[in-house]
Amino acid sequence: MGVLRFAAAAVALLASVGEAAPSSPVSTVNKRALKFDFGGEKVRGVNLGGWFVLEPWITPSIFENAPAAAVDEYTFCESLGKDEAKSRLEAHWSSFYTENDFALIKQYGLNMVRIPIGYWSITPLDDPYVQGAYEHLKTAVQWAGNHGLKVMIDLHGAPRSQNGFDNSGRRGAIGWTQGESVENTKKALNKIRDDFANNDAVAAIELLNEPMGPQLNMDTVRQFYYDGWGNLRTTNVAIVFHDAFEGVTSWNEFGAGMDNLVLDTHHYEVFDSGALSMGINDHIKTACDFGNQMASNNKWTIAGEWSGASTDCAKWLNGRDVGARYDGSFNKDGQGSYYIGDCARKSVGTVAGLNEAERNNIQNFIKAQIAAFEKGAGWIFWTWKNEAAPEWHFQNLTEAGLVPQPLSSAASSGICG
Ligand SMILES: *[C@@H]1O[C@H](CO)[C@@H](O)[C@H](O)[C@H]1NC(C)=O
Repeated sequence: MGVLRFAAAAVALLASVGEAAPSSPVSTVNKRALKFDFGGEKVRGVNLGGWFVLEPWITPSIFENAPAAAVDEYTFCESLGKDEAKSRLEAHWSSFYTENDFALIKQYGLNMVRIPIGYWSITPLDDPYVQGAYEHLKTAVQWAGNHGLKVMIDLHGAPRSQNGFDNSGRRGAIGWTQGESVENTKKALNKIRDDFANNDAVAAIELLNEPMGPQLNMDTVRQFYYDGWGNLRTTNVAIVFHDAFEGVTSWNEFGAGMDNLVLDTHHYEVFDSGALSMGINDHIKTACDFGNQMASNNKWTIAGEWSGASTDCAKWLNGRDVGARYDGSFNKDGQGSYYIGDCARKSVGTVAGLNEAERNNIQNFIKAQIAAFEKGAGWIFWTWKNEAAPEWHFQNLTEAGLVPQPLSSAASSGICG
C-alpha cells in the first residue's frame, strides 16, 4: 500500500514537472497521494444531475406537479411547504438513481461520477430548503465504490447563489460573497471533507460550481479558492475549482505551490446566438480548438460539464417557462433572442425519436468533444439521465450507439486532426 501510494505520488510529481507546473520543490515535499491519477489516466465521467439539486429541465414532471411559482429547488420547497416538499423530494432521491445506474456507468467504460449537492443539504441555514439528500449522497458514494467508480463531490449551490441559475438552488440574484455566505460555504466544504475525504471512492471535491466571475469580485473568488484548498490540502482528494467563466488559460498565475489542483471548465455551444448559429462542422471545430486550449495551460484541466446539444431547444433548459434562444422564444430578465431555427424537430423528447441526420450530428459532435477534452485531463458529461432531453442523456445515447465505444476510440479517430 505504501509503495503504491509512493508510486502514485511520483507519477503525479513527474506529470506536474512535465507540465512545467509553477510549484516549488518545497511544496511538493508534502504533496498528498491521490486516489485517481489525474496526470496519467483520462477522466471519463458522467454527472448525476438533477438528483440532489433539482433542475426543471432535467425532471420537468416534478415541477409540472408543483405550483407555478416553483422554478428552482428553493421556490419548490417554499411553495409546497417543508412537509410536502420533503415527502416529494424524499421520493425523488430514493428513486431517480438506483445502484443499477452505477453498474451501467461502469459497464459503459466510465471511471468517475460527479455528484452535485447544495449547501442546504450539508450545513443548513434558516431558509425554505428541506434536508435529507446528504444521507442519499452517502449511499451514492457507497454504490460508486461497490462498482469501482470514483466520485467527485461537487458543491453546486452556495448560500445566496453564486450564479443566479436555477441549478444553484435559487434562480435570480447573485448574492454569494455577501454577509456570511463565503464563511458558510467553507463550513459546508469542511463537513464534506470530514465525512468523505477518507472514503476510498471519493477522489475529488469541487469547491464550488460555476461562480459567476464576471459579476463577482474575482479577488474574493480567488481568496475563497485559496482558503478552500487550504482546508482540504492535508487530505488525499484532488481539489477542483471551476474557471468562473474566466477561461481556461486565465489561471496560469494562480495556484503556485498549491498541489493537487484540478481546473474544471464547462463547454457548451448552446447559450449564445453565435454558437447557436453554427452548423455541425463549426460546432466540431469549436470543440476541437477548445481541447487545444485546455491542453495549453499549466493545470490538470477537465471539461466537467458538456453535452451533445447544438441547440437550447430542450424544454425549460433555460429555466421553467423560459423559451429557447434558438427559435427566438427566449424571454428572461428583459433579454430576448432572435430566430435562428425551428425548435419543433429539435425538441423531440427521446433519443429513439431522433432522425438519421440528427443522430449523425450528435454522434460526431460527441466523438469530437471526447477527442478534444482528452487532450486535456478528460471530461464529465452532463448528464447521465433526464426525462425529455435526448442530447443530454448519456445512458440512452450510449445505448443507441451514439457514444463511441470503447470511449478511448474517440481520441484515436482523428476527428480533431
Ligand atoms: C431513455 O430510454 C428509456 C427506455 O427506453 C425511455 O423510456 C426514455 O423515454 C428515454 N429518454 C430519452 C430522453 O431518450
